This record gives sequence, C-alpha cells and structure tokens, in this order.
Amino acid sequence: MKRLVSGIKPTGEITLGNYIGALKQFVDLQNTLKDTEFFIFIADLHAITVPQEKSELRKKIKSIAAIYLACGLNPEKVNLFIQSEVIEHAYLGYIMESNAYVGEMERMTQYKDKKVKQETGIRTSLLTYPALMAADILMYDANIVPIGEDQTQHLELTRTIANRFNNLYGDTFIVPEGFTPKTGARIKSLTDPSKKMSKTEDNPKSYVLLLDDLNQIKNKIKSAVTDSDTKVYYDLENKPGISNLLTIYASLKDLSIKDTENLFKDSSYKEFKESVADVVVEVIKPIQEKYKTLINSKELDDILTLGAQNARIIAERKIKKVNQRIGLGRK
Ligand code: TYM
Repeated sequence: MKRLVSGIKPTGEITLGNYIGALKQFVDLQNTLKDTEFFIFIADLHAITVPQEKSELRKKIKSIAAIYLACGLNPEKVNLFIQSEVIEHAYLGYIMESNAYVGEMERMTQYKDKKVKQETGIRTSLLTYPALMAADILMYDANIVPIGEDQTQHLELTRTIANRFNNLYGDTFIVPEGFTPKTGARIKSLTDPSKKMSKTEDNPKSYVLLLDDLNQIKNKIKSAVTDSDTKVYYDLENKPGISNLLTIYASLKDLSIKDTENLFKDSSYKEFKESVADVVVEVIKPIQEKYKTLINSKELDDILTLGAQNARIIAERKIKKVNQRIGLGRK
C-alpha cells in the first residue's frame, strides 16, 4: 500500500490557484490512484508563522475542511484531519530541525520573499517552517506529495532531510516524490501575471476565491490584465495574462494547452474571457452549494475526528521508531 500526503495552510481563503494546483489534483488522484492511502490535512500549525486572529483562524480551519469535501474528497478514501490535532507533527518537526541546517532554511525562496516584506518581528517558525513540512510528509512515509510549483523547493529539502536521517540513523523514512500538475502548477495573479495568484495578496481583484460571489468571479476574470495584441495563443513571455487564462481554462476542462488554443484561435479577447469566466463559475458553483450543506454539519466534525484518530495511530508508531533510532527516552 502506498501513501499520499498533502496539506493547505488556513491563511486567507482558498483561491482558484489552490484549487487548480492542489485540490483538483487530490480529487483526480483519489479517483485514479489504486492501492494508495490518502492523508490530507489542514496545516494550521503552519498558519501561526505569522500572527493570526484566533476566531478567524478557527473559522478558516473549519472552512478549509468543508472546502476539501465540497471539492470532492471522499472521506471513505481519504483521512482528512487538522494538523494540530495530531500533535506528533510538532514533535517530529523538532526532530527535523535537528537534522537540518540553518543555511538550508535561509535559502528557501518563500522565506526570503516574506522576510523582505516584513523587516521586524519575524517569527522563528517562519524560518523553520520547512522542517515542519518535512515532518508532515515523512511522518506518514508518503510516496507521493501533490503540490503546486511554489512548494517544490520545500519538497526537495524534505527529500534531503529524509536521506540525511536515513544515512545517519538507518532506514527510517521513505523519500517522497513530488507531483505537480502538467498544466496549472502556478496560476498567476489576474492583475499582475508576473506574480502567482496568492490568498495573501492585498488586491482582491488579483485572485478568485472559491467562496467569492459568482458575479464577482465573472467580473474578476473579465477584467483580468491581458495585452494590446488581439490573438489568443500561449506565450508566457509576451502574453502572460492570456497564457494564464488559457492555463485556467485548460486545467478546469482537462484539456491540453494546444487544444485550448485551437478552441479560441478565432475568438476576440472579450469572447475568450467570457468563456473562461463561464467555465470557472461552472466549476465553482456546485462546490459552493455543497459547501453550504457541510460547513455547520455534524458530518464534517465526525469526519475530522475520525481522520485525526487514524492519523494518530500511524504518527504514534512513527515517533516511537524515530526515538529508538536516535536513542531518545528509555525504550
Ligand atoms: P499553501 O497553503 O500556500 O498552498 C496549498 C497548495 O496550493 C498550491 N498553490 C498553488 N498552485 C498553483 N497556483 C497557485 N497560484 C498556487 N498557490 C498555491 C501550493 O503549491 C500548495 O500545494 N507549505 C504548504 C502547506 C503544507 C504542505 C505540507 C503541503 C504544509 N505541510 C505537506 C504538502 C505536504 C503551503 O503553504 O501551501
């Protein structure tokens, strides 16, 4: 039996980028991968690398859990849980820190980017965050980790730490493989297509949220920045806005970029944007409907409780093994 592990941080709301780069992949893999156990979680410990308002944080944790299910994760196939409810993650995070170098953490581009934005009061956990992410993955001996492009550097570091630990203490962890989608691993901002679409961006027109009002979604797509040309085709360098919209359409319709270009080769930008807006709404509408039935349900709580129980069984076993390998404690 193989294992798949992935998570999403509850900072801000879930974007179309998260959906295409991660959530949609989880669901597609759930429906195609055989003999694979899924561990999907809400990475709430990762959220407190920056300050969070407590009632907001609680709300977002629950909201992401409901979104996972509304997007089509099947609790019969997937162990869905909240990271902080399996406290072994934090413990193994510390063990990972003790097998990683400060220089490795400082080289992470996400850390460098965030550090530039915030000069003082940077929390230590913002630096050591990739060690916790390594723990999340190695805890379950994940073979496959579906992620967007911005997480590939963290996954590479996870592999380095796993190899280092195995060499030093004997085989303990599976060295995981990342899985990024061919199309849509980096959905860009609608207002500045040189940047990734991000839930922590200030301008709400730059992203589509899964829980945005449907009319608002249409307007955001229709006002996406493009270029002064008139032809619809893929050219990341000269037409980043149009290329981003082609990527969104192709991913949501499970088409190749080539086939999508062909579909719109005679369309105006206006017609093309309308089609993209329609397909985004077509995908998001049923997710929102399902979300509404789930968000305050007992079913959601039951699924999270069971998911954490199942995860904890594996986590406890793993921590015992790790302690033995290192020589911690008494047995
Ligand atoms: P987070 O919460 O920033 O993002 C969740 C997932 O969404 C992907 N993603 C995108 N994909 C395509 N285009 C975009 N614009 C875009 N924005 C985000 C991310 O790559 C990610 O896959 N550190 C992780 C959470 C985490 C995790 C883990 C993931 C914690 N532990 C263990 C996998 C395994 C994070 O901050 O993702």
